[in-house]
Amino acid sequence: MPGVTVRSLAAMKARGEKIIALTAYDFYTARIEALAGVHLILVGDSMQMAVLGEETTLGASLEVLLAVARSVKRGAPDTLVLGDMPFGSYQESCTLAVRNAARFLSEAGVDGVKLEGGNPRMARRVKAVVDSGIPVMGHAGLLPQFVRMDGGYRVVRREGRDELLRQCDALVEAGVFSLVLEGVEEELAREVVERVPVPVIGIGAGRWVDGQILVVSDVLGLDPGFNPKFVRKYADLHGTILTALRRYVEEVASGAFPGPENAFKGPEGGS
Ligand code: KIV
Repeated sequence: MPGVTVRSLAAMKARGEKIIALTAYDFYTARIEALAGVHLILVGDSMQMAVLGEETTLGASLEVLLAVARSVKRGAPDTLVLGDMPFGSYQESCTLAVRNAARFLSEAGVDGVKLEGGNPRMARRVKAVVDSGIPVMGHAGLLPQFVRMDGGYRVVRREGRDELLRQCDALVEAGVFSLVLEGVEEELAREVVERVPVPVIGIGAGRWVDGQILVVSDVLGLDPGFNPKFVRKYADLHGTILTALRRYVEEVASGAFPGPENAFKGPEGGS
């Protein structure tokens, strides 16, 4: 798939084509996602939970995400890759937001960034970053970086309608090229899709959005204990890895590995 851009996504929405997105946190997974036909890869701060095993995304490090984003873009050069701006990297000021967003483009080589939230302060940050020439994906609905404020991860339902629409409007006004809508009741998500001109990518936002994004380790079934309603598992990587590693443990213990074909023999230049 040659060169997906922010413009491609707008064209896909106009054609009614679904936008397919996933997170990735390493070179090899990004390469497989690109081969599979994923249009957009987010180097999400969800890495803090999905890879590092923490309870929230709040500890995500800008330096780590930059290094990871660089490897993801190298694995998927023709895919639209976005860096997720971690908690604390943009809230303080527009200057900080622009400086750190620019690092994703200049150091990691990705195509844009995502920022969470659409309250007036966040909308100002988004506008400053967009005005600097950096494509921004907005993120509304359930906001993991606001988990302390919200007292948990709560799906946005009818009661939250007015605030959600206000935030989506503010983000569109600020110039986002697309919106992630997370944890939003399906009919409310449909209302957002019909209201905003930009592609809406859902996670736990039901069927009527312009595209879907999921956390790649959830899709691949890495954690058998994590089974939220909005995820469908397309593999049992936990089972596959466990079976493979048990075989490795058994074969090393029994002496079956390494075999003669794995051993170096004779002088340099021999087999
Ligand atoms: O960090 C992340 O993976 C995200 C997605 C859930 C959209 O923000």
